[in-house]
Amino acid sequence: MIKSFIAATGMYVPKNVVTNNDLTKYMDTSDEWIQERTGIKERRFADRLAETTTTMGVEAAKMAIENAGITAQDIDFIIFATLCPDYYFPGCGVLVQRALQMKEIGALDVRNQCSGFVYALSVADQFIKTGMYKNILLIASEKHSFGLDFSTRGRNISVIFGDGAGAVVLQPTEDPDRGVLSTHLHSDGNNAEILAMYNPGTHANHWTNGHKLADFKDAEIGEMFMSHEMIDHAQNFPNMDGPAVFKVAVEKFPEVIQEALSKNGYSPADLRLLIPHQANLRISQFVQKKLRLNDDQVYNNIQKYGNTTAASIPIALCEAYEMGKIKEGDLICLAAFGSGFTWASALLRW
Ligand SMILES: CC(C)(COP(=O)(O)OP(=O)(O)OC[C@H]1O[C@@H](n2cnc3c(N)ncnc32)[C@H](O)[C@@H]1OP(=O)(O)O)[C@@H](O)C(=O)NCCC(=O)NCCS
Repeated sequence: MIKSFIAATGMYVPKNVVTNNDLTKYMDTSDEWIQERTGIKERRFADRLAETTTTMGVEAAKMAIENAGITAQDIDFIIFATLCPDYYFPGCGVLVQRALQMKEIGALDVRNQCSGFVYALSVADQFIKTGMYKNILLIASEKHSFGLDFSTRGRNISVIFGDGAGAVVLQPTEDPDRGVLSTHLHSDGNNAEILAMYNPGTHANHWTNGHKLADFKDAEIGEMFMSHEMIDHAQNFPNMDGPAVFKVAVEKFPEVIQEALSKNGYSPADLRLLIPHQANLRISQFVQKKLRLNDDQVYNNIQKYGNTTAASIPIALCEAYEMGKIKEGDLICLAAFGSGFTWASALLRW
């Protein structure tokens, strides 16, 4: 039976390191508050003019392609996960196809925010298992720094996020002891608005259950994706109810990890490494404790990069592999939770 396996990883983070103290120049916050609540010490911000979500993704992709010992011409499908694409449309996948001068292959964009990479992996896994593709390039990249509110008004969100990209090349294997064992995808749209960026969008200020998103009169909304009124009211920034997100995240993370383990007849003790989406170090620590995992079984790097949304898992995976923390035969679990809400896990034998 054909399974898919991660043949190579790659990552790219911008050079510009932004410490918590750097952020205090723009907003009322402190290194102490940020570290205590999130574990984050610093993050990277892309060069505002020279780097985009796509260019960072391309750098990560080049590394993954080289590590796989193939060329961009060998790739037969691209999947790109991001919440901050270069353009509202088209997606970043085609921009990668152009940048790497690839063949006229399919390019799919995934918009599942923090669980984007695991969703993308699951889609790629199906294409490999059916024999349709042999070298799938999965990229996740985010340039959050371009769209955050760096005034005190936006501090609960802006201190958390960072920029970066990760990539993997997925290939087929017939080795029964290797590859993606299962993937598990979930969603619950009831809380869609508590971690969201509403604009630009076609919502016309109406939440689907009749609520209004902002206190605008219909006439002020106009017929535009983005009006002056929205910008004047800071409606061009993401919105998050942090404590509410935290509460659901600590419930769904352990649940979806346990689901992957149980499906394959394993328990947490069998895991070599859990790579959770780097949402908040406190969330990862809570999950670790709940599953009774020891420190060596969980990889965190949010301290250095902040929350890079879809990119956090492939960046962490690449780093952990390069550091020798992942070896052939190891049981690895990837798990994510985020906006939507969507959450997902993947269990693989490296
Ligand atoms: C965002 C988060 C760190 C906030 O921590 P918290 O302990 O829940 O803090 P609260 O939001 O309750 O705010 C506590 C106080 O700190 C203040 N505060 C918020 N951000 C701050 C900042 N950056 N610096 C200083 N103070 C801040 C608030 O205004 C509030 O002040 P008040 O008590 O005077 O009203 C936390 O809720 C969280 O991480 N949630 C999950 C978010 C997440 O993972 N998102 C990504 C999902 S993938």
